[in-house]
Amino acid sequence: MTESITIIDNRTGNQLEIPISHGGVSAAEWQKLLPGIWFHDPGLTATAFCESTITVVDGENGILRYRGYPIEQLAEKSNYLEVAYLLLHGELPSAVAFDQWRHEVTMHTFIHENVRKRFLEGFHYDAHPMGMLVSAVAALSTFYLDAKDIFDPESRNKQITRLIAKMPTLAAAAHRFSVGMPFVYPDNSLDFCSNFLSMMWKVAEPRFDANPTLARALEILFILHADHEQNCSTTAMRVVGSSHADPYSCCAAACAALYGPRHGGANEEVIKMLTEIGSIENIPSFVEAVKQGHGRLQGFGHRVYKNYDPRAKIIKRTADDVFAITGKNPLLDIALKLEEIALNDEYFTSRRLYPNVDFYSGLIYQAMGFPLEMFPVLFAIPRTAGWLAHWQELLDQDSKIVRPRQLYVGAEPREYVPLSQR
Ligand code: CMC
Repeated sequence: MTESITIIDNRTGNQLEIPISHGGVSAAEWQKLLPGIWFHDPGLTATAFCESTITVVDGENGILRYRGYPIEQLAEKSNYLEVAYLLLHGELPSAVAFDQWRHEVTMHTFIHENVRKRFLEGFHYDAHPMGMLVSAVAALSTFYLDAKDIFDPESRNKQITRLIAKMPTLAAAAHRFSVGMPFVYPDNSLDFCSNFLSMMWKVAEPRFDANPTLARALEILFILHADHEQNCSTTAMRVVGSSHADPYSCCAAACAALYGPRHGGANEEVIKMLTEIGSIENIPSFVEAVKQGHGRLQGFGHRVYKNYDPRAKIIKRTADDVFAITGKNPLLDIALKLEEIALNDEYFTSRRLYPNVDFYSGLIYQAMGFPLEMFPVLFAIPRTAGWLAHWQELLDQDSKIVRPRQLYVGAEPREYVPLSQR
């Protein structure tokens, strides 16, 4: 079988054979035959935006791998910092390299006092923590002027370390401010997740020791959220990165993309939906309304997965461990029944709509005490590793600035009419 496609311009009869490479065809080749004819692909549903070696999602079979390693193995055996290293460097670290990496991240967890005192504390008392995070990440670019040296490997590594290390500090600071609690400084004797939990929950005790089961659950959730190839926020990172902006500005754009309910805001929407449903008896009428086009089943469906999201399977198991400590989230029974009903309903099965990562993650976060507004923030912390891995890859690929075309369907040329004559 020939691994190519042939296109024919029916206006001229001219034809061109384009090789299929890694499951894609080159738009540059297409352009040779059809200059000025553009692909119309809103949502980029049929466009491979780049070549990447970082993460593979096989949506048909429900498979997710980082740098070739199955997500199930990483979630079971690894930790977030090791996974971040893997995403950024392409290989798991040696023991020495891991110690060095962990030390560097730990030594960069503090934020400049001005970021907290003058910047974060300048927000209105009821500011959404994700809005604060988006702005604070962008503001970091004004503190690290060397961040503009994006092709200097030393500077690049420094910004990457800073971003991974400071995200939990900024996230916890945003939360503490939004609930009127004093800022908690990082505790460098704690690991990445335990330190974050300490900055979130510490009150007057000299040292906050997180429950190890809850710290491990957070670690698993961070691993599962660390990357997901060309999702909306990673694409935002690559788009802004393609203009050669500094990594803080790129990450702020990625955070902003993650803020939306169709992306990182979805698990918050799941909790709102389950709360609105209220009891198991109300599920059938709710599902019926969704089928009639009144809203969506939040936490269901995915652009790529047309099968059970492998992350959702792992999260479901993690939920049991968490609920053993925190007590069961009362919304769990509604979620389980809702899943069962949807998975047996032709509307959802025919559209291949399955639970995604957000269906159960919100239940865990809520049981752990995180307010709903923190959910997208909790997504942004680990996804920073993925964003930065893609940013690095993009810069090493000598890529062009992202500048798509459009199909203009607006007004024909017309003459300006002065205000007095309109
Ligand atoms: N509930 C009910 N119907 C749905 C849903 C849903 N959650 N998702 C898709 N559909 C239907 C949709 O109405 C359409 O039906 P029809 O063909 O009759 O018009 C069909 O399925 C295809 O939907 P689509 O909007 O073309 O699919 P998409 O690939 O553009 O959207 C999605 C993907 C994730 C935005 C969408 O499934 C959705 O809105 N889900 C709910 C929000 C959610 O859970 N988001 C988190 C995604 S996972 C986390 C992440 O990676 O960020």
